[in-house]
Amino acid sequence: MPSGFRIELRGVTHRFGRSGAAALEVSSLEIAPAERVAVIGRSGCGKSTLLQIIAGLTKPSVGSVAIDGVEVRAPSPLCTLMFQRPLLFPWLTVAENIALALRFAGRAGEAPARVARLLTLVGLEGRGQARVAELSGGQQQRAALARSLAVEPRALLLDEPFSALDAVTRAELRHEIRTVLDAFSITFVLVTHDVDDALELADRVVVMARAPGRIIDDISIPAALDAARRAALRARLIDSLEPEPAPFALSA
Ligand SMILES: Nc1ncnc2c1ncn2[C@@H]1O[C@H](COP(=O)(O)OP(=O)(O)OP(=O)(O)O)[C@@H](O)[C@H]1O
Ligand SMILES: [Mg+2]
Repeated sequence: MPSGFRIELRGVTHRFGRSGAAALEVSSLEIAPAERVAVIGRSGCGKSTLLQIIAGLTKPSVGSVAIDGVEVRAPSPLCTLMFQRPLLFPWLTVAENIALALRFAGRAGEAPARVARLLTLVGLEGRGQARVAELSGGQQQRAALARSLAVEPRALLLDEPFSALDAVTRAELRHEIRTVLDAFSITFVLVTHDVDDALELADRVVVMARAPGRIIDDISIPAALDAARRAALRARLIDSLEPEPAPFALSA
């Protein structure tokens, strides 16, 4: 089985528009093959921009991204980005949605067996013939996850995949993602606002801050965390997400 991609950012700065302020400044970020990285930070600090640059959907104004040493110039199905909203095609069945990337890759013949395996993996066994509208929000996220995995990507980038879900569905989907990560040796980058997502799924947490978007902390998460250590890490991560003090006091 091919291993996960190595992802490297060098001297990346990104501005939206010609004269705008830098939305992102990352002098260096290296993600090892099969590493599981969570990126946390307050709204607007550049997390989605970072993910889109890694995925080849946005070209950085300055600097470069390399995947396994090769500069990224365009999106690749092997480095797949899943957005917060599932973005499934409503006129196709769940199985057809999942098989789509295989069809585009000229591998439609593999679809039946692969789709069946993926449906089981994400907890949607027997729902392949359902229409997208017949699925709940959490089930649609699972279908989107299965679709992201259809062509055996070597990196999976998730941009806040849980934020529209209730707590129970969120925990279930987290579990499914863990199963997927254990089944495939894949590099994983998860953007999240939720410190527990990060602690559950990542072995490293990158903390970002705003204006410009930059990395301010990079924390290893040990595989075996006892309760006290976990609580301390959680507190550190929550602290790093604390809102800035208001620039003026509200008075009566
Ligand atoms: N297409 C765009 N044009 C102009 N500015 C943009 C564009 N996309 C993002 N920005 C700006 O770049 C900054 C970083 O945006 P980004 O979407 O990466 O933040 P984020 O950390 O993902 O936020 P959130 O947690 O709310 O999703 C923000 O200030 C945002 O307003
Ligand atoms: Mg975002």
